Amino acid sequence: MRLTEPILTKRIPSFPFGDASARRTVSFDEYVRTGGYKALERALDMQPAEVVELVKDACVRGRGGAGFPAGLKWTFLPAVDGKGLRYLCINCDEAEPGTFKDRLLVDFDPHLVLEGIAITCWACQLDVAYFFIRGEYHHQAAVMQRAIEEARAAGIFGSSGMMRGKVKFTAECHLHRSAGAYICGEETGLLEAIEGKRGWPRVKPPFPAVKGLFGRPTIVNNVETLAAIVPIIERGTAWWKSIGTAAPFPGGMPSWGTKLMGVSGHVVRPGCFEAPLGIKLSDLVNDYCGGMRGGKRFKGAIAGGVSMGILGTDQFDAEMDFDIGRRYDVLGLGTACPTVFDEDTDMVAVARNIARFFKNESCGQCTPCREGSGWIYKVLCRVERGDATTADLDLLLELAASMGLGPGTTICGLADGNNWAVRTIITKFRTDFEKRVKPRFIPIHVSAR
Ligand SMILES: Cc1cc2nc3c(=O)[nH]c(=O)nc-3n(C[C@H](O)[C@H](O)[C@H](O)COP(=O)(O)O)c2cc1C
Ligand code: SF4
Repeated sequence: MRLTEPILTKRIPSFPFGDASARRTVSFDEYVRTGGYKALERALDMQPAEVVELVKDACVRGRGGAGFPAGLKWTFLPAVDGKGLRYLCINCDEAEPGTFKDRLLVDFDPHLVLEGIAITCWACQLDVAYFFIRGEYHHQAAVMQRAIEEARAAGIFGSSGMMRGKVKFTAECHLHRSAGAYICGEETGLLEAIEGKRGWPRVKPPFPAVKGLFGRPTIVNNVETLAAIVPIIERGTAWWKSIGTAAPFPGGMPSWGTKLMGVSGHVVRPGCFEAPLGIKLSDLVNDYCGGMRGGKRFKGAIAGGVSMGILGTDQFDAEMDFDIGRRYDVLGLGTACPTVFDEDTDMVAVARNIARFFKNESCGQCTPCREGSGWIYKVLCRVERGDATTADLDLLLELAASMGLGPGTTICGLADGNNWAVRTIITKFRTDFEKRVKPRFIPIHVSAR
């Protein structure tokens, strides 16, 4: 089930199966020559509220991890009050392990992202956009900075009115490089970081749309979410809805459109691909990645970033749509960047490695996360060494549950991600763990008479 026509990646030379060395950044001139910034012109011919309605109708679910519909989020903004600036923050932190898809767009087609940003600024009447980029993305930061300058020189951003004065409305775009912590990808940690503070997530509500950057109304969206707005304006919602899947449950939400899916792990050809939402994981692995490496059998896969938990051996055919969580006992689709494991994988080592990540990245504000993440890691190390008992497996499940299952246990979703990762690996691969622990003996005293 390959995509017949690339959409977000259509301008990227030789992508995805051609000669990778021929891949280069699409220049501003080339972008414009091939129809770029036409969607912005079209959006500027519409009223901002009409653009919001169109994006709402397209049900563009957030590509940063939570799958929340972008258009609906935009409607939470209060009306323009003239009391200060309104902001757009573009989340290019991309620190979720296994995730590499936003950087593809920045690397090769930064103007697609900038066009999506400009359309969003117009639709939501946002004055300043901050492009928040992962600290380690040195090359991508330079590419995006250059593209922002080109867009400003072309009158897309800047004080002359958007699109060389086509409308009076003006927007500015700035690049902000993260100091480098996973937690700065959480939307309110990101706001704190841009404000120059420690990237500690905020208690919500209020949500950023109401009180965000510098206390002003703010929209936070992922890079890929904003890029997807461009083809929707160009080709309409009916076309967009012809790709992807309808809601799998009555009253549920659809997963329309394509998705960038970065596949890593034990496959023949790891890489980032654009695929229709709803593609089976097995089709993604076989049709795009050339199958399992060395002809080995599939054992499991992290669904889309380690926070989402794991798909079991019998879930290779899971449909990669935003409702994967409700059908396959994972948290969700996340970033749709699966890490695939073959039959030889040591799941205890996988769990221990993931737990180490969460322990290191917990910001420490909430006790269940700060203490629980370190405790889980220690117990998993014990299991890996062969020093644990079966009771420790139950302890791990209890610790994980205390970190995430109850709503409001912690300030942000990092702890819940830790819970889902550890709990699903242990429950779906329990025999791997049981082989490594000692049974807990209960001494029986027999009296000799
Ligand atoms: C611990 C944590 C890390 C996150 N990291 C990212 C990230 O790197 N990039 C991203 O787009 N969203 C990340 N998110 C999700 C954001 O909080 C937010 O939901 C997202 O940027 C909204 O954009 P979207 O609706 O377009 O997906 C993270 C969330 C959590 C809890
Ligand atoms: S859940 Fe963890 S990472 Fe998130 S705010 Fe609390 S301590 Fe920090």
